[in-house]
Amino acid sequence: MIRADLSALPKYVPGKRQEGAVKLSSNETTQPPLASAVKAMQSVSAEANRYPDMGAIELRTELANHLGLSIDQVAVGTGSSALCQQLVQITCTAGDEIVFPWRSFEAYPLFAQVVGATPVAVPLKDEAVDLVAMGEAITERTRLVFVCNPNNPTGTTVTTAEFQEFLAKVPSDVIVALDEAYFEYNKATDTPVATDFLASHPNVVGLRTFSKAFSLAGVRVGYCFGAANIIEALNKVAIPFSVSAVAQAGAVASLRARDELDERISQTVVERARISSELGAMSSEANFVWMPAATLPGAPADIAAVLAERGVLVRAFPEGIRITATTAEETDALLKAWDF
Ligand SMILES: Cc1ncc(COP(=O)(O)O)c(C=O)c1O
Repeated sequence: MIRADLSALPKYVPGKRQEGAVKLSSNETTQPPLASAVKAMQSVSAEANRYPDMGAIELRTELANHLGLSIDQVAVGTGSSALCQQLVQITCTAGDEIVFPWRSFEAYPLFAQVVGATPVAVPLKDEAVDLVAMGEAITERTRLVFVCNPNNPTGTTVTTAEFQEFLAKVPSDVIVALDEAYFEYNKATDTPVATDFLASHPNVVGLRTFSKAFSLAGVRVGYCFGAANIIEALNKVAIPFSVSAVAQAGAVASLRARDELDERISQTVVERARISSELGAMSSEANFVWMPAATLPGAPADIAAVLAERGVLVRAFPEGIRITATTAEETDALLKAWDF
């Protein structure tokens, strides 16, 4: 009954959950959503008998103002994951190619395979996205490129010059999605910002989310911005009414109160530096730090298992361990558990 090729599709692996444990495995925040967002979400939940605004007009207007764009340049979806998938759906049919860095966000190859497109994974260089190699990986079958900046799980960023040189090599009919899921944590002084490239490069789109710095991972809302024709296509393939009224209300209220997020973002930046220096992890521009396997006192999965026994959940990959930076108390718990 089921497509034979789906059996080759790896499963998305969510960060571990464990009752009572300190959860540093999914790059969430520990703090709840902003109080005004909770209030707004509670109030619309009483009208959950109605479908939400399908055009998400209020949220898209707020986002457009926030980004300095027009509403027809912004699409919202159930997390930026959905928009990654929609980008694949509007660009690729079977046999087309999607270029992305690897190791990176694990949904990129999954979404490619679902439509029968060929995932072209370009290895990182020194744990960072290798834009030269990604440029060389583009063929006439390439329809879409993901550039993850900062990169999940390594926390590295590319420079503006690297991105510009890369864009110069990408054909104008290939979409480049700059995935800025960790944008608010990125304090690098020389790093590309998607909004700066939209006017000069109509094939560039940006992807951001309310799941990380906005503390709204549980309601699933993210956004994509770029040329109006791309946004229109994204909206065409969206599941009708997919972004709930609760999510829309939470996102609008959070955007209006976003100054209140500064303090928790600063705290995360302090904690990521502390984890890096205490554990000898790489420096990071996201809300997590990366420890390559070669720098660990054992295999990544074994270290993660021992930490889990000690009540701290981190994310193990074959290439290393990713630890979410959250609050001072949770860093204390991590450092206490890290006894190898
Ligand atoms: C690089 C990157 N992009 C996109 C996402 C998707 O996040 P969401 O679907 O919660 O917006 C994530 C989540 O971990 C991510 O790390």
